[in-house]
Amino acid sequence: MPVPDSFKAAILPAAGGQHIVSDRSQASLQPGEVGIKVIATAINPVDWKIRKYRVFLTEYPAVLGSDAAGEIVAVAPDVQDFAIGDRVFFQGIIGKYDYSTFQQYVKMPAALVAKTPSNISDDEAGGVSLATVAVMTAFYDGTGHGLAAPWTQDGRKAGAGKAVVILGGSSSVGQYAIQFARLSGYDKIITNASPSHHDYLKGLGAHVVLDRTTTSSPEDFKSAIDGLPLDFVFDAISIKETQTLGVKILQLTDTKNSHVVTVQGKDADAEKLGESQEPKVQVKQVVGMGSSPALRYLTEPLWKHLGGEDGYIAKGEFKPNRPVVVSGGLNGLEDALAKNEKGVSGVKVIIRPNDA
Ligand SMILES: NC(=O)c1ccc[n+]([C@@H]2O[C@H](COP(=O)([O-])OP(=O)(O)OC[C@H]3O[C@@H](n4cnc5c(N)ncnc54)[C@H](OP(=O)(O)O)[C@@H]3O)[C@@H](O)[C@H]2O)c1
Repeated sequence: MPVPDSFKAAILPAAGGQHIVSDRSQASLQPGEVGIKVIATAINPVDWKIRKYRVFLTEYPAVLGSDAAGEIVAVAPDVQDFAIGDRVFFQGIIGKYDYSTFQQYVKMPAALVAKTPSNISDDEAGGVSLATVAVMTAFYDGTGHGLAAPWTQDGRKAGAGKAVVILGGSSSVGQYAIQFARLSGYDKIITNASPSHHDYLKGLGAHVVLDRTTTSSPEDFKSAIDGLPLDFVFDAISIKETQTLGVKILQLTDTKNSHVVTVQGKDADAEKLGESQEPKVQVKQVVGMGSSPALRYLTEPLWKHLGGEDGYIAKGEFKPNRPVVVSGGLNGLEDALAKNEKGVSGVKVIIRPNDA
């Protein structure tokens, strides 16, 4: 079935308001675009932060959501790589409402869509894209660490002989960071999390998992690094406490010319500490908007290498976050947003927009 003339969307009528489910329609496909029925879409902190802090959006009524999986229902005549019925996952586009995922149908540039391999469910695929793009930007783009991506020549050995620290390994972003660190060939991946997640994170590729409440001092990280050169610190949590910890770890290990890469705003005190003591440590923030022209050189190959029947997911080299489905379709969105804001531990909250 093609994209219907009218379908259901969770609409935010005004800044700071509550979602209401109502009818919406979509502009016709442009060249290079595909139409997608959204089967599963994840809740990420950015979704409730947009509403709470009134950031990113200027036009209302608005549609939110930018992390999803679904099924191709329409293709523009020039699209070669996708056919009706293909299962796909993708990062929607914040602020462009035909490309936002808290609704039953969206459209996307085909180049920014990955094929969902048969070894994962739509619920699992629905939580892959957004946090993965944050990690991809942090590891491989020059705004972050600028390492060679694993799909480039010698990219699978880019971390050889070195250690990397990932703060907050059990978060959605942290789980994907551990797996990209492994794909990049780091010899020692050190992270921290609550004890209930330690075995799982080792299964994803972490070599050492410290208890985030009892053994996460800079000295604990230094012992775990055990003399290997520390390449950089990736802070998947990026609050004051973790950014400061990241700076201290790099200074204690005497790591020169390195940085803490964050996924939220830079903390002024952490930055000051990094500038005021030797070795100097920079705090760098990345923004993972995969559709931005500056990132497409990474996102387009990322989707090809992560998805499909011969990509990292199909080969078992990359595992999606474990989904927790909130029922009620689009009517469950407010509960799902509240669940994520209250705090999740090691899982991804999902809704299914086409369920009743
Ligand atoms: N810049 C970007 O493009 C981008 C993209 C995606 C996300 N983000 C941001 O990245 C952050 C993480 O997002 P997410 O979806 O990955 O979060 P999440 O999964 O909701 O984070 C929850 C996890 O964080 C862990 N955690 C909380 N405080 C911690 C601390 N002090 N040290 C270590 N671990 C801690 C908890 O660990 P335990 O359960 O083990 O206790 C829990 O598993 C958010 O601020 C989000 O807005 C930014």
